[in-house]
Amino acid sequence: TSNQMWGGRFAAGPDAIMEAINASIGFDQRMAAQDIAGSRAHAAMLGQTGIITDNDADAIREGLLTVLSEIDSGNFAFSTALEDIHMNVEARLKDLVGEPAGRLHTGRSRNDQVATDFKLWVRDQMDAAISGINALIGALLAQAEAGADWVMPGFTHLQTAQPVTWGHHMMAYVEMFGRDMSRFEDARKRMNESPLGAAALAGTSFPIDRHMTAEALGFDRPAANSLDAVSDRDFALEFLAVSSICAMHLSRFAEELVIWSSAQFRFVTLSDRFSTGSSIMPQKKNPDAAELIRAKIGRIFGANTALMMVMKGLPLAYSKDMQEDKEQVFDAADNLMLALAAMQGMVKDMTANCDSLEAAAGSGFSTATDLADWLVRALNMPFRDAHHVTGSLVAMAESRNCDLPDLSLEDMKSVHEAITADVFEVLGVHNSVASRTSYGGTAPEQVKAQVALWKDRIS
Ligand code: ARG
Repeated sequence: TSNQMWGGRFAAGPDAIMEAINASIGFDQRMAAQDIAGSRAHAAMLGQTGIITDNDADAIREGLLTVLSEIDSGNFAFSTALEDIHMNVEARLKDLVGEPAGRLHTGRSRNDQVATDFKLWVRDQMDAAISGINALIGALLAQAEAGADWVMPGFTHLQTAQPVTWGHHMMAYVEMFGRDMSRFEDARKRMNESPLGAAALAGTSFPIDRHMTAEALGFDRPAANSLDAVSDRDFALEFLAVSSICAMHLSRFAEELVIWSSAQFRFVTLSDRFSTGSSIMPQKKNPDAAELIRAKIGRIFGANTALMMVMKGLPLAYSKDMQEDKEQVFDAADNLMLALAAMQGMVKDMTANCDSLEAAAGSGFSTATDLADWLVRALNMPFRDAHHVTGSLVAMAESRNCDLPDLSLEDMKSVHEAITADVFEVLGVHNSVASRTSYGGTAPEQVKAQVALWKDRIS
């Protein structure tokens, strides 16, 4: 049997393999709500412009609501023979309302229809990502506020560098996720133009009103070029690119949590709710959620690459290749939302072990820079000389297996005779962080000011 949508020029139906490679209903049924919203807006416009009668428009709009409730309640038989969500919905509408259903497709095509549906779906995901990030930032701010003056080691090359505050470290992630949030906001603005009414590629001779449907669907305006409107998947690529950067941030943070929760670090204790055990080693508490978040960047960035490869080299306008856009975006979106939620839960639940943090903060000669700075300030030494003197003192402490504050004044004087007992004041980690009051520095007062700013920003 030939197809009820285009059967006119066909004598035979498709091979089973043709149907299998062609059908998208297995995944694009996720856009049912968007498809029906787009069709209802289109039908209302066809009625208002007099292209179809008001009675037909009303019958279509009512019928579509019935289809939606059938789909929502799980009472809808999706058909692979009907290929995709657009044709499944329209075929069911025909069963329900008869002849008027055949008038719905006036002045549009599946090409602008699918672009519209997918844009609406991606736009919702951008909003979901923004609120997921918002919640994560809230959890980070609570950690930062509680530990604005807890000291911990700051690292470069994962080697002890200088003491920082726990709050400062948390707020570094707030900045990263804040940029992700603004990237989603930017992308959302750029993509918010309606493809509906671009029709197959050239526009239509019917007197449609694209401004009306754009407004009904919450778009800022209709897309200005009908060829571009049906060929464009930039919005999906931008979603994937921004998601990739966000997932990369999540992955870096997840890596830190994996390291920090180890017995060797003991910086944080993850809650039981966000940990797993081992079937053989009774002592184990594993940071599986963090590990999986760390891994999610792989599939999200993979989706970005895959869709980029699908789109490169496609001549204008629509090609069926573009049907491959959805599974990549669906999978990336599902996993990004899951990763954001899991990270938020972990951060909310985790306990920072301030004693371990503080003990670690003082090891590894972390206040050597403070010592060098003191030599510059108290003895007016050029920084390069101060660096050299401090290096000798570190070598001395290292050879004695002790830390800088454990050296005596005599030890210090043996390296540079002008050093006085005042130097010991700058060797403590609390003094060190309290002194970093430059804008954006790790001093608790700076951190608290940033926490207050961000609380305003996200509320
Ligand atoms: N299922 C198709 C897709 O996802 C809908 C558009 C079909 N358009 C066409 N000209 N065959 O892209």
